[in-house]
Amino acid sequence: MQDNEHKRLEEIIDRYDGQDGSLIQLLLDLQSEFNWISKDALKEISEKLKIPRSRIYRIASFYEAISLKPIGKHKISVCMGTACQVRGSQTILDRTESKLKIRQGETTPDMKFTLKRVNCMGCCAIGPVIVVDDDYIGRVTSDRVERILKKYD
Ligand code: FES
Repeated sequence: MQDNEHKRLEEIIDRYDGQDGSLIQLLLDLQSEFNWISKDALKEISEKLKIPRSRIYRIASFYEAISLKPIGKHKISVCMGTACQVRGSQTILDRTESKLKIRQGETTPDMKFTLKRVNCMGCCAIGPVIVVDDDYIGRVTSDRVERILKKYD
């Protein structure tokens, strides 16, 4: 962790010093600042706030919004719910994996993209659906995958 990152980490932790029940908010703030929470950060929170590391880890692992692994600048979620699968989402996922040269759950080495498969996102009518960051993209075909990725490149 670089000096300026470490300073930022300490500032955020200090905001919550002595406040019971604010651990989740602290973790969400760190997630939003660094895009993930490192082992070093977990250790520092534990030491500064005197909270067992196992408890912090348990909470951090529970929340989908918190990542304990570095994630890419853009998060791509391919819906693999039933309605999207019926409309070919497996082909979309395969094409995306092949274009990015990673498997679902992984991040590209240049840290640009993280790819995930997810369950129904509640917009089955426009399936198959992929979500890039906060953009919902419907009626995706495998031919469109490359163009979509280029837009975020
Ligand atoms: S199954 Fe994909 S949005 Fe519902």
